[in-house]
Amino acid sequence: MGLYEKYLLPKILNCVMKSPDLTEIRAKLVPEANGRVLEVGIGSGLNLPFYAGNVTVVGLDPSVELQDYGREVAARCGVDVDFVNGSGEQIPSEDNGFDSVVITWTLCSISDPVQALQEIRRVLKPSGKLIFAEHGLSPDPGVAAWQSRINPIWKLVGGGCNLNRKMDELITQAGFRFDALTTGYIPGPKFATYNFRGIARPA
Ligand SMILES: C[S@@+](CC[C@H](N)C(=O)[O-])C[C@H]1O[C@@H](n2cnc3c(N)ncnc32)[C@H](O)[C@@H]1O
Repeated sequence: MGLYEKYLLPKILNCVMKSPDLTEIRAKLVPEANGRVLEVGIGSGLNLPFYAGNVTVVGLDPSVELQDYGREVAARCGVDVDFVNGSGEQIPSEDNGFDSVVITWTLCSISDPVQALQEIRRVLKPSGKLIFAEHGLSPDPGVAAWQSRINPIWKLVGGGCNLNRKMDELITQAGFRFDALTTGYIPGPKFATYNFRGIARPA
C-alpha cells in the first residue's frame, strides 16, 4: 500500500462519505437492520449513528486507518461494534450467523463483488436481510459510456472504486431476491451518482 492509500485516501473518504445526500439514504436504510448485524466495508463508521434498537454489529473492513475513525464514532454513539480486519470475499464468520448485513458504497471497491455477495449469503440466516446502498452503472448510454471511459483513472484515485457495475444484477446473480429496490440519480455528477438501494433476501 502506498502513502496515498495509507494516509490521504482514508481522510478523503471519511470526508466525502459524510455528504448530506448519502447521510439521508443512511438515515432511511440503516434502521431496517436488526439483531446481530454484519457491516461489510464499515469504513469510518458513518452508518453507526443510524442503527436502531438493540443491535450488535460486526464491522468488517480491510482498512485499519478507516476502522480507527469508526471506533471513535462507535464510542460517541454507544453502538456495540466488533471491528474485524478482513475482506468481503472471505468473511471470517460461521454460516447463518447474522440477522442483517449492511453494505453501503462498498461493492464498487471489492475486487470480486459476486464472491463477496455469495459470502454475505452464506453468513446471513435464511430469514435474514441484506440492506444495501451502492452507486453503479447508469442506464443512460451516454453516461454509461463516460463511466467506462473514466473508470481506469477513477479506480486508481478512488481506492479501487468502479463506476460501472450493475449492482442489481450482481445481487441477484449471487442468489438474492429484492424486497425493495430503488434506483436513480442523487445530486452530483451523473457518472458517480446513479444509486441502487434497498433490501434483498436469500432467494
Ligand atoms: C467508499 S468507502 C465506504 C465506506 C462505508 N461503507 C460508508 O458507507 O461510508 C468503501 C469501503 O470499502 C472498503 N473495502 C475495500 N475493499 C474491500 C473488501 N474487499 N472487502 C470489504 N471492504 C472493502 C474500504 O476499505 C472502504 O471502507
